[in-house]
Amino acid sequence: MLDVYTQIASIPIGYNHPALMKIMMNPHNLSSFVNRPALGMLPPRMFPEKLLDGLISVAPKGLKRVQTMACGSCSNENAYKAIFIWYRTKQRGHSNPTPEESATSVINQAPGCPDLSILSFMGGFHGRTLGCLSTTHTKAIQKLDVPSFDWPAAPFPKLRYPLAQYERENAQEEKRCLEEVEDLIVKWEKKGKPVAGIVIEPIQAEGGDNYASFDFFRKLRAIAKKHGSAFLVDEVQTGGGSTGLFWAHQHWGLDDPADMVTFSKKLLIGGYFYKDEFEPDKPMRIFNTWMGDPAKNMFLTEVLKVIREENLLEQVKRTGHVMLNGLYELQARYPHLLSKARGLGTFCAIDVKDEDTRNKLILKARNKGVVLGGCGNQSIRFRPALVFKEHHAQLFLNIFNDALADMK
Ligand SMILES: Cc1ncc(COP(=O)(O)O)c(C=O)c1O
Repeated sequence: MLDVYTQIASIPIGYNHPALMKIMMNPHNLSSFVNRPALGMLPPRMFPEKLLDGLISVAPKGLKRVQTMACGSCSNENAYKAIFIWYRTKQRGHSNPTPEESATSVINQAPGCPDLSILSFMGGFHGRTLGCLSTTHTKAIQKLDVPSFDWPAAPFPKLRYPLAQYERENAQEEKRCLEEVEDLIVKWEKKGKPVAGIVIEPIQAEGGDNYASFDFFRKLRAIAKKHGSAFLVDEVQTGGGSTGLFWAHQHWGLDDPADMVTFSKKLLIGGYFYKDEFEPDKPMRIFNTWMGDPAKNMFLTEVLKVIREENLLEQVKRTGHVMLNGLYELQARYPHLLSKARGLGTFCAIDVKDEDTRNKLILKARNKGVVLGGCGNQSIRFRPALVFKEHHAQLFLNIFNDALADMK
């Protein structure tokens, strides 16, 4: 099979990569695989040093600290907690909590459990655990019957494609959404549920590969700053190189870095990078038993080595070029079926006429040997590994073309 979905975008350098097999078979590494530590309490002695070669070596600009976690949802979940702790610690002037705060916290009452909120965007996906789910706004099946926090959800720009052709209209749409963000922040402040943080994906992935301009994100970052809200970028799906830069938000050219960046999937280990001020004032406030897995950081270190040695980010740019141009050609050939080809690096997508046709097309492609995934209501997302080369892209386009021809 030619995998253009890679276990929901989570295989960085393909299956059975020899460099990773070697790590696995090295007898010196065996005890790290067999014995998993309770990382938050009993980290292996060398763990901080190993993080320097692994996660810390790809820390986004301005973020020097990292907290490891196990998956995407728990990375966001704990990042939200760190935001709330930061917000309240600041409010109380970095002094210790009052006895009343401590006592009320264990019975779910204010002031110990304050009414704070996280602002998210319609169409955004940040995971399915209870806190994250209040910031996830994709499909009803993910949310139905589950209680939710009363947190604000702003409209995400609905842009017209091709983006270059509709710059003026799209800029207006983005302005509308940013105004709504500010209105919601003010509204929730008045309600007594101030917005402690804003969370956003650089490209809304599960929600349908929805784009906004780099300018939109720069302005959003400034709005967060203006209102004293943390700015959290969820790079769980976009992080790790598939947009042609290691982090998708690097494309924005922020002067003022994001406050936090969450990751998982292609980084093999979950977690978040953060600015110093988001370090909780006491140990164990962000904690669970495993908090990730040092063995995954070993794999990541090797993956990063392969990315550097094989210059895979440049490869992604070249392959992405072939893919996107190929998708443009296919949409011109099958205008009754395809529209809105879009992409950054190999992180590409295309819309299909309707949901039913989209699902049939994915099935047809699978029967011809290509694994694809859907997203949003009617999109197909392409998520190849970083080792996907131009000839793989060409092969994929040919088979996709055959599947489309069969649909007629
Ligand atoms: C942007 C984003 N955030 C969070 C998550 C949740 O990650 P996980 O499924 O590992 O909990 C996902 C998963 O697809 C995601 O795409």
